[in-house]
Amino acid sequence: MKIAVVGRGNVGGGLARFWRDAGHEVNEIGKESGDVSGADAVLFAVPGPALADAIENVQGLEGKTTIDATNLIGNEPPSGFQSNAEFLKSKTNGPTAKSFNLNFARAYEQLKNTRARPSNIWTGDEEARAVVEQLNRDAGYEPVYAGGLENARAQEAMLGMFFAINQNGLGPFVYRMAPPDKL
Ligand SMILES: NC(=O)c1ccc[n+]([C@@H]2O[C@H](COP(=O)([O-])OP(=O)(O)OC[C@H]3O[C@@H](n4cnc5c(N)ncnc54)[C@H](OP(=O)(O)O)[C@@H]3O)[C@@H](O)[C@H]2O)c1
Repeated sequence: MKIAVVGRGNVGGGLARFWRDAGHEVNEIGKESGDVSGADAVLFAVPGPALADAIENVQGLEGKTTIDATNLIGNEPPSGFQSNAEFLKSKTNGPTAKSFNLNFARAYEQLKNTRARPSNIWTGDEEARAVVEQLNRDAGYEPVYAGGLENARAQEAMLGMFFAINQNGLGPFVYRMAPPDKL
């Protein structure tokens, strides 16, 4: 797959490395502008309030399959939208998913050592499923689907509980959501 990753930080840089290791062709884009017209998938991993700027920075987004990994951390989504993910879709008119916002980049390096594959929640469009689930697996996660993009708001709101768990004992944790016979 040809993947464009916007944001070269902990999340963007870490996922780019996993995806290259899995054989994908990854183009990393920072604050300089970039062209994503040749990409099969575009990941946004920039600070939540910077999403609008980051979208403006890239050309060729129309109709693209995109994944929004941002967290707003106390900030509101852009006016008129319930979530950053729905805002992103309004700018691309393509298949859109929210994923990779509910896991800690500081745990990435240990993913390959876990006894069972950690879960990673995603919401979004059915048309994005094949891409987002493949990229979850190629990063070391088992994707857990939580419904359409209208649920991205709830996914973004889950961050508060993740931070609470992180800061009250567990540190950067992973989790697994599975039927009882699969745990
Ligand atoms: N860290 C985590 O564990 C974690 C986990 C899940 C989700 N998230 C979320 O994922 C996003 C990225 O987190 P991170 O930890 O990777 O942050 P980070 O290490 O601070 O990296 C953010 C990157 O975005 C770039 N950037 C900022 N504004 C931009 C713009 N307008 N256009 C293009 N690139 C821009 C930054 O460039 P400069 O360095 O030049 O400023 C930086 O490379 C955030 O929304 C965060 O809440 C983080």
